[in-house]
Amino acid sequence: MSKKKQNIILNDVEIIDIAAEGKAMAKINGKIIFVPYAIPGSVVDVQIVRKQRNFIEGKIINTVKKSDKSIDAFCEHFGVCGGCKWQNLPYSEQLFYKQKQVADQIKRIGKADIPEINDIIASPKTVEYRNKLEFTFSCKRWLTQNEIDENAVIDNYNALGFHIPQLFDKVLNINYCHLQPEPSNAIRKAIYDFAIENGYSFFDIREKSGFLRNLIIRNTKCGEVMVILVFGCDDEKKRSSLLDYLQMKFPQIISLQYVINTKLNDSINDLDVICYRGNSFLMEEMNGLKFKIAAKSFYQTNPEQVLNLYQKVFDFANVNSSQTVYDLYTGAGTIALFIARHAKKVIGIEYVAEAIEDAKYNAKINNLNNVDFYAGDMKDVFTADFISKNGKADVLILDPPRAGIHPKVSEIILNAHPEKIVYVSCNPATQARDLSTFAPEYKIEKIQPVDMFPHTHHVENIVLLVLNAT
Ligand SMILES: C[S@@+](CC[C@H](N)C(=O)[O-])C[C@H]1O[C@@H](n2cnc3c(N)ncnc32)[C@H](O)[C@@H]1O
Repeated sequence: MSKKKQNIILNDVEIIDIAAEGKAMAKINGKIIFVPYAIPGSVVDVQIVRKQRNFIEGKIINTVKKSDKSIDAFCEHFGVCGGCKWQNLPYSEQLFYKQKQVADQIKRIGKADIPEINDIIASPKTVEYRNKLEFTFSCKRWLTQNEIDENAVIDNYNALGFHIPQLFDKVLNINYCHLQPEPSNAIRKAIYDFAIENGYSFFDIREKSGFLRNLIIRNTKCGEVMVILVFGCDDEKKRSSLLDYLQMKFPQIISLQYVINTKLNDSINDLDVICYRGNSFLMEEMNGLKFKIAAKSFYQTNPEQVLNLYQKVFDFANVNSSQTVYDLYTGAGTIALFIARHAKKVIGIEYVAEAIEDAKYNAKINNLNNVDFYAGDMKDVFTADFISKNGKADVLILDPPRAGIHPKVSEIILNAHPEKIVYVSCNPATQARDLSTFAPEYKIEKIQPVDMFPHTHHVENIVLLVLNAT
């Protein structure tokens, strides 16, 4: 270990594994070191950036030996942008480590009769797989290492891109992003160039001032596009010039909207979204169902892979026309509607009131009359009283946020005794914790990991639980 000023450098650190949350890991004298962007099998020199009691966090400053597994990342922004940290790992290896993440977490439950985990379902697309990206404007661009090393004269500090991980006030200007199909890059670049040419101000995140604040681009599988521009203050002339320019240049934008956000935070959920031209929503199609996607609606971001995910949920649930299904954390009701064609009745519950409005609208346009949707916090809505009013749950589907299920909700589920629980999770750690609360009464019958987000460590996992015979 060498020490220079305050920088502690660890030399020749061998990366041995990838742990939970996708963190590449080494061990020195029994102490765990996490090294982002590293690949198992590589040997690297590491600068320590954070020391905790149980682990150290470092960053690679030099690669001594490349791993046999490592490949060249295809994105020019790799290593700086926080988006696709696993690009230097072949896709087959990414799938291996995602499968392992699920297995490691499930093993923690410690039950002997856990079934074999099905092979992870790979994403049909590994680039341009997202249908939504959110960008930030900033007048304090993150400078590249080259610009710093070369002492370059900087005459433009404006950026339109993604936040640097853990630095809320620094934004990386994105030249090309591989996550969303065109015209995503073309639209973002056109807005940037127009703003620079016309002297529009970019947002100052610390001072909370500036005209251009956020940009959201959404698309459907058939190539229709929604653009939402968020302005930090209003200026009708500048706003219309930019929006008219976009409308003229990109006929694919069938929904052009804007928001004025003078609040401290970037969320638009509590603000009016104003439709400038075209529709206020996009229409998406999945497995014969139509879905309305409004500016604030949640819709799964990998639209090709979501069909595989829902199909597995459907297979695991295996409902029949005499059964009542509860879809907890229903979002815009997509799983509920997917299942409704085969069940007697489906009840969806979700926190976001607008999503429930979309769910009701989607039920109507798909002529599904056997679904009821309710808005509210799960622990307040999903009560014993609610179940006695709406009917016994034969099958219960859970798709909670990363934090998992509230203990009150688990208690109600256990008392409700559904024959089957299908638990979809984007966080195997909290899922494993919740599964152990169901363990005394339920048997885990099937486990199916699904990759929704190539080049990231994120993994989705579906578990089928069946009530033990009494
Ligand atoms: C992973 S998303 C699932 C959405 C949906 N099942 C789908 O496939 O599109 C989780 C959903 O849980 C909702 N949610 C988060 N916390 C909640 C709570 N306490 N009560 C009810 N819903 C909640 C979120 O708004 C979000 O729509």
